[in-house]
Parts: sequence; structure tokens; C-alpha cells
Amino acid sequence: MSTLHVIDHPLIQHKLSYMRKKETGPKDFRQLLDEISMLMGYEVTRDFPTKEIEIETPICKATVNIIAGKKVAIVPILRAGLGMVDGLLNLVPVAKVGHIGLYRDPRTHLPVEYYCKLPNDIEERVVIVVDPMLATGGSSSDAITKLKEHGCTNIRLMCLVSAPEGIRKVQADHPDVDIYTAAVDEKLNENAYIVPGLGDAGDRLYGTK
Ligand code: PRP
Ligand code: URA
Repeated sequence: MSTLHVIDHPLIQHKLSYMRKKETGPKDFRQLLDEISMLMGYEVTRDFPTKEIEIETPICKATVNIIAGKKVAIVPILRAGLGMVDGLLNLVPVAKVGHIGLYRDPRTHLPVEYYCKLPNDIEERVVIVVDPMLATGGSSSDAITKLKEHGCTNIRLMCLVSAPEGIRKVQADHPDVDIYTAAVDEKLNENAYIVPGLGDAGDRLYGTK
């Protein structure tokens, strides 16, 4: 069963509140998303297994722990997911990055795929799908389906702001995928935007409106 992890660390809540403000421009919006992504990454990777190795410090021999197990792939959903990649790469610099391009049809609100480029060995990796907004859940659910078609079996979803509708859809479609989010907002409006949300994440990141 999929677990919902709400990461409500005070630093994350503080930075997210500034992202929500309509006066916050693209430069600050990008920087805040980058900082939050790194903070969230700390929790998203918390269950990574470790193994013991023997080393020598300048003082003596010691048994210490390093990360073991599968390698990591980060998969942003274009465009807005791009804003969450660097924060995670700061934590896991050797991760590979795949890209899935989806946009929401403005009339039906259903996702339309326009791009997909994934690492060749993606099925051997722990995959962290990133997108700031989980609204209807259509985009995230389709991206996860695509990854499963490529053989991925260990997938987690990291998003900034979620609507209850989107959480329900991803959990129903993908009960094996845990969701990490900084906030669960109230609802969707008639245009399937998250309320109160932060508006259109892609436009706010890149100044396209
Ligand atoms: C936004 C957002 C998600 C999607 C969420 O992308 O970044 O990918 O909408 O909505 P959903 O949960 O209802 O599918 P958008 O389609 O606006 O594309 P963009 O990132 O290129 O702006
Ligand atoms: N996409 C966004 O960027 N924001 C929303 O609130 C919903 C979908």
C-alpha cells in the first residue's frame, strides 16, 4: 500500500509560504523550489539501505556506513519538475536524470505526452519522479505508468503541493508508489488548479505568463 509522507519541516513550510505569494517572482521562486527540493530529498532518501565498510581514519581503523543497494534516477516531469532536479542532485550527485514531457490539455485537463528520454539502465534504479504540483494526478500517474512500461519497479513520487484528488488517483493507480509532499491543500478549482496552491508552477518558474 502506498504511504503518503507529508514533510512539514518548519524550513520547508516557511519557504513554501513565500512561493505561494503572488508577488514572488521567478528568480526567488526558482531558488526557493531548489532549496525545498534539497530539504525534501533528505526525507525521500531516508530509507536507503547502508552497508558497513572498513576504512582507516588518520587515527585508527574504523567500521563505517555507506549507501548500499540500487543506484538512483531522478525523473522530472517537464517543465516544472526541472526546478526540483538540482536540489536532489546536490544530495545524490551520481544520480542519472531522465525526462518525461507532459502538458495538461487546457480543456480536458488530461496529460498529453510530448517527450521521453530515460537512462538505459533505469529499471535497475530507484526512481524519484519529481513535479511540484499534484493536481488531478493525471500527469504523475501517467509518468509512473510510463516508467513501469520501461521495467521500473522501485518508484517514489516527490511533489511540493498536492490536492486530495491527485493523491487519491496516484494511490489508486499505483499502490506500490510512496508519495512525498510538503503540503496537502484543500481542493481543485473548476480549472483543476490547486486551491490555495501557488498558481501555474511552470509559468512561475520560467516567467512565461
Ligand atoms: C503542471 C504540473 C504538473 C501538472 C499537474 O504542468 O507541473 O505536471 O500540471 O496537474 P495534474 O496533476 O492535474 O496532471 P503543466 O501541464 O502546466 O505543464 P508545464 O510544467 O509545462 O507548465
Ligand atoms: N498545474 C499547476 O502548475 N498548478 C496547479 O495548481 C495545477 C496544475
